[in-house]
Amino acid sequence: MQNEQASRTALLIATSLVLLRHDPKYSGLVSKTSADLCAQMLKTCSLQARLLLKVVQQGWFRPIAKLMERVTIPGIFLHYALRKKCIATLARSALTNGARQVVVVGAGFDPLSLELQLDFPDAEFWEIDHPATQRQKLRALPQPCAERLHFIGVDLNATALNGGALIKSGFDSAKRTFCIAEGLLMYLEADKVSSLMRTLNSLSASGSEFAFTFMEKQNDSRIRFDSQSKLVDWWLRRRGEPFVWGTTRSELADLARPWRVVRFFDHNDLRGLGSGLADELIAKGEVICLAEI
Ligand SMILES: C[S@@+](CC[C@H](N)C(=O)[O-])C[C@H]1O[C@@H](n2cnc3c(N)ncnc32)[C@H](O)[C@@H]1O
Repeated sequence: MQNEQASRTALLIATSLVLLRHDPKYSGLVSKTSADLCAQMLKTCSLQARLLLKVVQQGWFRPIAKLMERVTIPGIFLHYALRKKCIATLARSALTNGARQVVVVGAGFDPLSLELQLDFPDAEFWEIDHPATQRQKLRALPQPCAERLHFIGVDLNATALNGGALIKSGFDSAKRTFCIAEGLLMYLEADKVSSLMRTLNSLSASGSEFAFTFMEKQNDSRIRFDSQSKLVDWWLRRRGEPFVWGTTRSELADLARPWRVVRFFDHNDLRGLGSGLADELIAKGEVICLAEI
């Protein structure tokens, strides 16, 4: 990531949620609260983000967005929305079944913890992110922000996650926790991925769960979405966010240890999360893994 600039991919995801919410065909996939929170964050970002926000809410822009998607990663907008829906459902189920803490690593502009803290008044939430992205998010949040929502800024490619920082802000290793790393691990070196998994595991009580996404290595070992164009490879490199880590489902069981892999959700599973998606293109290549301890 570029050190002083908020993640461009996080901005893109927030924008795509607003876009889908305003599209009558897909609006049911993104809650109004989520879309409003994303819009609030985009508004405070930059003039460019504010303009983009205005444009993606207009009907005339939809065919242009479709075309842009087709020449970059076909099906990526639905992938983002369904990935979020899947992880939100897992988090809600964990909280309903007794988890009392949620840690979101690489949270970006994801509104999930903001939404969950409204619905689960007994739970505490932590967002850990690159300082440049987190600064931008904090600017957008209402002051004072929710008391049960804590923020820790760290560049995970430069420094390992420090459990002490979590504990200092009230994290309790005896409580069941739901950890999330969505759309993050592909930006970290392999040793940083293992170290993050071990740290989260050592901090989590028995019965805790971890939902994370990973890029599934292609046959030629390249790390990218199946249909990703060269234009996207170039853009990610230029923005300082190239994908550097990917793996296979079989390698992951070893790599994630001591987490135990419970199940994977790929593009076919995501398709089942919405109605009328049977013939829709959903980008393939990033898989969600649910693991437990
Ligand atoms: C693709 S965005 C995903 C954001 C969010 N999880 C979502 O799905 O909407 C990638 C996120 O990873 C974070 N990230 C990338 N490299 C990082 C690093 N070295 N240290 C900490 N966070 C990093 C970015 O700041 C950004 O928030």
